Amino acid sequence: MNHNLKLALVLCLSVFTDLSFGYRWPSPQYDALEGYLYEGRRADGTSLAALVHPCRKRTGTLASIPAEWLRIAFHDMATHNVDDGTGGLDGSIAYELDRGENFGSGFNQTLSDFETFPNKYVSRADVIALGAVLAVSTCGGPIIPYRGGRVDVYTAGPTGVPEPQQDINTHTEMFRKQGFSQSEMIKLVACGHSFGGVRNTDFPQLVPADPSKSVNIKNFDTTDNFDNVVVTQYLDGSTQNVLVVSDNKTMVSDLRVFASDGNSTMHSLASADTYNTECTSVLERMINTVAHGVTLTDEITLLPAKVTLAQLTIEQSKLVFKSSLRLTNPINGTINKNRTVRMLWCDRNGDSQDCKGNTRYAQSVNTVTESPDLSPVTLKLGLFFINYQFIVPIDSTASISKFWFEVDEHDGSKVTVYNNEGDNYVVDQDQVIFIPTMSKAEFRSNSTEAKVYTNRNSETFTKVYTFTAAVRDGVNPSRVYIDAQDDAFGDFLQPFNSTIDLTLNSTAGTVQGYKLYTGTVKDVGFQLMIDVHADTDGTTHTVNVPEVSNLDNTVLTAPATPSSQTSSGSSSSSSSSSWRSVPWTSVSLALIFGFTTLLLS
Ligand code: HEM
Ligand SMILES: *[C@@H]1O[C@H](CO)[C@@H](O)[C@H](O)[C@H]1NC(C)=O
Ligand SMILES: *[C@@H]1O[C@H](CO)[C@@H](O)[C@H](O)[C@H]1NC(C)=O
Ligand SMILES: *[C@@H]1O[C@H](CO)[C@@H](O)[C@H](O)[C@H]1NC(C)=O
Ligand SMILES: *[C@@H]1O[C@H](CO)[C@@H](O)[C@H](O)[C@H]1NC(C)=O
Ligand SMILES: *[C@@H]1O[C@H](CO)[C@@H](O)[C@H](O)[C@H]1NC(C)=O
Ligand SMILES: *[C@@H]1O[C@H](CO)[C@@H](O)[C@H](O)[C@H]1NC(C)=O
Ligand SMILES: *[C@@H]1O[C@H](CO)[C@@H](O)[C@H](O)[C@H]1NC(C)=O
Ligand SMILES: *[C@@H]1O[C@H](CO)[C@@H](O)[C@H](O)[C@H]1NC(C)=O
Repeated sequence: MNHNLKLALVLCLSVFTDLSFGYRWPSPQYDALEGYLYEGRRADGTSLAALVHPCRKRTGTLASIPAEWLRIAFHDMATHNVDDGTGGLDGSIAYELDRGENFGSGFNQTLSDFETFPNKYVSRADVIALGAVLAVSTCGGPIIPYRGGRVDVYTAGPTGVPEPQQDINTHTEMFRKQGFSQSEMIKLVACGHSFGGVRNTDFPQLVPADPSKSVNIKNFDTTDNFDNVVVTQYLDGSTQNVLVVSDNKTMVSDLRVFASDGNSTMHSLASADTYNTECTSVLERMINTVAHGVTLTDEITLLPAKVTLAQLTIEQSKLVFKSSLRLTNPINGTINKNRTVRMLWCDRNGDSQDCKGNTRYAQSVNTVTESPDLSPVTLKLGLFFINYQFIVPIDSTASISKFWFEVDEHDGSKVTVYNNEGDNYVVDQDQVIFIPTMSKAEFRSNSTEAKVYTNRNSETFTKVYTFTAAVRDGVNPSRVYIDAQDDAFGDFLQPFNSTIDLTLNSTAGTVQGYKLYTGTVKDVGFQLMIDVHADTDGTTHTVNVPEVSNLDNTVLTAPATPSSQTSSGSSSSSSSSSWRSVPWTSVSLALIFGFTTLLLS
């Protein structure tokens, strides 16, 4: 009962905050950040959250992955300088790993975990910040509010990460420079040292080797969770934290930090609730520490009804409109099997233009119920997702101008309308469209192409995309082209972007009302995103495609299947997962042959 009340409150709150900042579709950056936070995965289904959830240990070292993820966020942020406004969470850590202050294989492995996730809308630094949020929540900690918009740099910043042999004045000054007061320093260290520990491989003067383990890790406290046990054990004298109890008094930096105000901040953190509140606040400030001039987005709250994958496209030589509506369900609540969800839309041209004569509608053709373990954040909110998927034929003469949804629970309650806060979801143009089913990605190994990438297994390959777009008859474009961008690279290479021309291709097929154009893009990254443009009479028509990695017809040209794919447990698990194509969203036209479009007068 009480629990349901809480759920209801959470739901109301998220609806409320959602409306208060005025989200409107389309907002590709917000949608990308929201998907990462609440679904924990890339557009092609590859999951970031699954690497850390549930509060996982790393194969091999048995280190706490969440601890490694939180620590890297601190070390990346630590180059901030409040005096001149430079540095902060900006991805510079990738260029700073050869420094003594960034000792340890945990950083290298974490950057491997993250390398396939940055994209056009989510910077490398946004992924590092997201890692901290997922890490804390998957180990039972609070949900740290998350924003995007951090800007990456591609060079090392100044030094500034505290090391245990430094004295308390040095540490206090370092945190001041990062923007934190003395009591905030104590809270940051007490919150950061909640899970994980110190390794013999990195600090042999603090932790002895253990012949039975590849790495001996002495945890900061006796739990693996994110909790205040590190504080209570410090206060009651039972702590095992080597940065407090080591015989080498040079190295007991946690003791110096914690006791620097006579233990008063530590006493205030003895309550679990206070600890969670204070950690939320100070860790939020930590991940939001960015250079002067960088503007973060609004807080990313869960969208109660999210439109995804909306596209006018061609399948089996027919013009179709596809979309998906993502709704939430309480974890222990029942799913209403009687619920019907329908998409309604208006013609763009003709007698029924903008629904003057009638409105078209169709029921969802497929329902995908997601696991509550998709993201620890959504799990903690007590919710999981149900996707209602649509595909409808579109007459190319009438076309489509806008759409919206109605959800009927068939339980006597009112039908809920999702119409983009009254604006409807607008299909802004139908002049140029992208055709995933006629596009493909090919991995060519041992390639002699100019652009090649050598992965950790010394295999050399190029990814060749062949893209097909269609331009409406009568447009006669002066140029059809694609802007392609990829920000996800192994070994943290620079982002790739390129503009390529598409050419009219009469052998590619025929579709009523459209002409087909094709072209190729060579890329070596993990997450290509494209905009397809058609220029005509001084106007550029554009379709934005953030789901290129989700092509159903990916071809692996032997022997490009990397051996890391089969050697699970290798440190390059993230590069193996990037090869997986999970077309969870693809509803094929074949599934619904015999569909009908209904008309409402
Ligand atoms: C005076 C400031 C700090 C010092 C001197 C310090 C020092 C250390 C040291 C020596 C380790 C062991 C690393 C290893 O063995 O590889 C460590 C681990 C860790 N630190 Fe700190 N730290 C400080 C502040 C922070 C802060 C502010 C955070 C985050 C908010 C943080 C998060 C962590 C985490 C999560 C680990 C465990 C990593 C793992 O188990 O892989 N530290 N710290
Ligand atoms: C981590 O990467 C850095 C930079 O490439 C390198 O200098 C360092 O040796 C690596 N450390 C480990 C433990 O692999
Ligand atoms: C204590 O640690 C410091 C700093 O790492 C080191 O220089 C010193 O030799 C250590 N002392 C002992 C007795 O191990
Ligand atoms: C603070 O707490 C630590 C650990 O319990 C203790 O060793 C130290 O004496 C205390 N310091 C003060 C000033 O109370
Ligand atoms: C679904 O409909 C059936 C038949 O009308 C009804 O018996 C049942 O109670 C309904 N279930 C829910 C959850 O409303
Ligand atoms: C859902 O029910 C299970 C089993 O009764 C319980 O363990 C779990 O905590 C519940 N989850 C939520 C979010 O209420
Ligand atoms: C590709 O190159 C690697 C390294 O040079 C070599 O071991 C492998 O046999 C080559 N594979 C093919 C199919 O040529
Ligand atoms: C694409 O690359 C060019 C040249 O490297 C750069 O000037 C431009 O800003 C990049 N565009 C984007 C969107 O990153
Ligand atoms: C035209 O399309 C066909 C089929 O997709 C493709 O095989 C061919 O390479 C394309 N021609 C050009 C010039 O791109």
